[in-house]
Amino acid sequence: MTFEEYYGEAYPVLKQTEKELLNLIREYQINLTETYQGREKIAEETVEESAEETLKETVKESEDLQPILYCRSRIKSPESMMAKLKKQGFHTDCATALLKMHDAVGVRIVCSFVDDVYAVAEWLCGREEFDVVEKKDYIAWPKPNGYRSLHLILRMSKGAGQGMQAEIQIRTIAIDFWAALEHQMKYKREVEHERLMREELKRCADEIMSVDMSMQAIRDFIRNENNCFA
Ligand code: GTP
Ligand code: MG
Repeated sequence: MTFEEYYGEAYPVLKQTEKELLNLIREYQINLTETYQGREKIAEETVEESAEETLKETVKESEDLQPILYCRSRIKSPESMMAKLKKQGFHTDCATALLKMHDAVGVRIVCSFVDDVYAVAEWLCGREEFDVVEKKDYIAWPKPNGYRSLHLILRMSKGAGQGMQAEIQIRTIAIDFWAALEHQMKYKREVEHERLMREELKRCADEIMSVDMSMQAIRDFIRNENNCFA
């Protein structure tokens, strides 16, 4: 089944919501880079098609590391939406999906450092374009398997996507690498030595957290040094 067949009239609205969110996130990156450089803010063009190019150029000129390394977004496929609804005992139609599920639109923001994850989340939560429906901090409170990310459920409060919800996952690049592998494990029906594999993954997640903390400390140190000698 195609996206259009499943989501019907809601499909363009979902796509618009996804686009609006991505533009907003770009705006964060550009504003921040501009602030560092003390240059004038790039105005309306951030939402135009040229945003990608502008972003690349501004970031290239910046001396600091980018807080957001990259973003991925997707509209949940009809197959996985229907499977999720079925698993939870709901009807599998589009109306139920939009009512009961909040991740038809999903955006993943991958950052360099843990501090960046919180900074991006705080900035997003303060925007008036949407209301924050839920915030889950799996960094401060990791899942038992070691998963660490910050999740936001947002509801668009204006624009073409008004009323539409979206799930935003914000995490460091290190844990993103871990999550990709861990995600694959879920779909492997039979894994030999499964318990051992899970324990190893948990150990890796803990090591990654330790590395993330060290990288953060090094970055803070370099920033302070630069500020001292500026
Ligand atoms: P679903 O898991 O989507 O049914 O919703 P939930 O209410 O449990 O929300 P949660 O915030 O826990 O998870 C939302 C999404 O985050 C998931 O669909 C995954 O994409 C991701 N996620 C959550 N936990 C894990 C995890 O342990 N490993 C990985 N790789 N991804 C996870
Ligand atoms: Mg879950």
